[in-house]
Amino acid sequence: MEENQIIPIPRIGEKAPVFKAVTTQGEINFPNDYEGKWVILFSHPADFTPVCTSEFMTFATLEDKFSKANCKLVGLSVDGLYSHIAWLRTIKDKIEYNGMKDVEVKFPLIEDITMDVAKKYGMIQPGESSTKAVRAVFFIDPKGIIRAIIYYPLSLGRNFDELYRALIAMQTADAFEIATPADWRPGDPVIIPTAGSCGVAKDRMENKKDLKCYDWFFCTKELSEKTVFDKLIKER
Ligand code: BEZ
Repeated sequence: MEENQIIPIPRIGEKAPVFKAVTTQGEINFPNDYEGKWVILFSHPADFTPVCTSEFMTFATLEDKFSKANCKLVGLSVDGLYSHIAWLRTIKDKIEYNGMKDVEVKFPLIEDITMDVAKKYGMIQPGESSTKAVRAVFFIDPKGIIRAIIYYPLSLGRNFDELYRALIAMQTADAFEIATPADWRPGDPVIIPTAGSCGVAKDRMENKKDLKCYDWFFCTKELSEKTVFDKLIKER
């Protein structure tokens, strides 16, 4: 990749940029190796730093929960492979934090010293740092399409409950053809598609049946937590 080449940042709805990379779990071909699965591709600024350490311990502890929701985790920083290995060994052997200890990071951590991958994904944001990736999170669906992107600055550790909530909300939207309102959690009412004709709008307002309509364009229906998780989660 040429120096100073301007690379567009990938956007929601686009194919995830393709790359091959060396990781702590061997080489990966992205996103092809993950076809049929959701992936959270996330970057962190640097190995052996405190916020990143707290994040990796948290994400590694939750890996199984994401896996049951058909979602694999892939990390990246612009450090080299041996730094990654040394850092992950330190985390496992020495760090006890927030009730977590002996934490093994089993998901792949990409080495990206050349910054090729980080640049492709817009993870280098020079206003924040030109030598470190910001904390980017890309949600990529089973067809390799980017479905959500969240960026955080270097100083802000991510909220992993929110990442899980966002994943389940997108999967629920796909599976049940609904949308999810503000602060939605599984078990809360979901939003049905807005009426697309005057007839449907009238019907919605007059024959509400199992719907709750705040107005013709804003109707919700119940969707139990059990229905959501029975459909989405393997081995509950
Ligand atoms: C951290 O993970 O603690 C960190 C990394 C880079 C800059 C600032 C904080």
